[in-house]
Amino acid sequence: MSRSAHPAGPRHADVLSEGHYAAPPADLNSLDPKVWAQTVTRDADGVVTVGGVPVTRLAEEFGTPAYVLDEADFRARARAWRTAFGQDADVFYAGKAFLSRAVVRWLAEEGLNLDVCSGTELATALSAGMPADRIAFHGNNKSAAEIERAVGAGVGRIVLDSFQEIVRVAHIAQSLGRRQRVQIRITVGVEAHTHEFIATAHEDQKFGIPLAGGQAAEAVRRALKLDGLELIGIHSHIGSQIFDMSGFEVAAHRVVGLLREIRDEHGVELPEIDLGGGLGIAYTSDDDPREPHEIAKALSEIVTRECEAARLRTPRISVEPGRAIVGPTAFTLYEVGTIKPLEGLRTYVSVDGGMSDNIRTALYDAEYSVALVSRTSDAEPLLVRVVGKHCESGDIVVKDAFLPADLAPGDLIAVPATGAYCRSMASNYNHALRPPVLAVRDGAAWVIVRRETEDDLLRLDVG
Ligand code: LLP
Repeated sequence: MSRSAHPAGPRHADVLSEGHYAAPPADLNSLDPKVWAQTVTRDADGVVTVGGVPVTRLAEEFGTPAYVLDEADFRARARAWRTAFGQDADVFYAGKAFLSRAVVRWLAEEGLNLDVCSGTELATALSAGMPADRIAFHGNNKSAAEIERAVGAGVGRIVLDSFQEIVRVAHIAQSLGRRQRVQIRITVGVEAHTHEFIATAHEDQKFGIPLAGGQAAEAVRRALKLDGLELIGIHSHIGSQIFDMSGFEVAAHRVVGLLREIRDEHGVELPEIDLGGGLGIAYTSDDDPREPHEIAKALSEIVTRECEAARLRTPRISVEPGRAIVGPTAFTLYEVGTIKPLEGLRTYVSVDGGMSDNIRTALYDAEYSVALVSRTSDAEPLLVRVVGKHCESGDIVVKDAFLPADLAPGDLIAVPATGAYCRSMASNYNHALRPPVLAVRDGAAWVIVRRETEDDLLRLDVG
């Protein structure tokens, strides 16, 4: 995600964070389709529209900050994943990226399955009509109540994450008179090239059961013995925001290696493998993500090749993209407030949200881009840092970006590619009211998750 060097260098380029010697884009008014939702464009007056709705109308009707989600784009991306993987594979949308009942309905209609990782995500999915057998239930510390709810609802699979859970799920399933379909999540020892906090397949972390030392094989041995469980496959998720397919290649090789061991020891060929999610998206113009059809082709070739080598029937593959579906389909709309030029340094542009609606910059050093969306401007590029209104100096939304030098309080700016892990990780820091999620399509805009109100917060505070 590094930006390229530019010989001329922008004003104040010397203060850009190390390794980021960015150049202003040739045209500050242009909107790179790589990072913006598909229907985003500028109208004749220079106002950005999405789904045929001008952002100025959205701000007027619904206020700012707001997440704006392009339904047509969401459906198109979901469909592209579904089509790319075809009938011999399953696509589970990872609900943790962003989950709401509207989104669950769109997914159900587009033929996707759903991955949830808490009882409340499960409740959301069920309440929006996702059939239970199309739901996978994840988590490294599922409570007994959550397991009971999942088994009772008849979820299609529970992904077992520890030795204790193997026994717990088997016990609960039996007591409910069920045989629960399960996968075992293993850690394959791959170092994914991504931020430490979102890499998940190296061994020194909380998820899964290590392949190393025969632990995964032992978990399989135990699961196969328990009447309450039907072991259908092995699961591996190596991390998030990954561009390089080589990590998946190693993971598939090791998962198939385990399938072969299981066949040799137990005479059982497990019918499924799940390779998790984690495919990267473009947050800035420098990111080059792969298309779903390329990913599907690469993964199925890897698995087929590995299975042929091990003389195994090729199992049914499933994947769990979250970010790659919802990430690019939304942007956050903010109103510009205080503008503070710091001589010789940079200009701080404050918006009416911040780390409470996008924690990713503070938490992962994530990079975003930003654009003036309520009008165009021919003013020269100004190096800015877009910051929030919270009481913390790390409250940064976009670390290094260029906006027109005539930017003024009251202008609307938008940060693209905030569909994933922004609303779902939003907080009430400083008693911020979490922003609404607006859906847009064919000239219409409506609320799918409403803005929190003071009453919402005060109701929780029971004195
Ligand atoms: N499957 C499993 C088992 C997962 O743990 C995750 C993400 C996914 C699928 C979906 O990954 P995706 O395709 O969305 O990358 N908060 C972080 C990301 C945490 C991801 C957690 N697990 C961020 O904002 O980057």
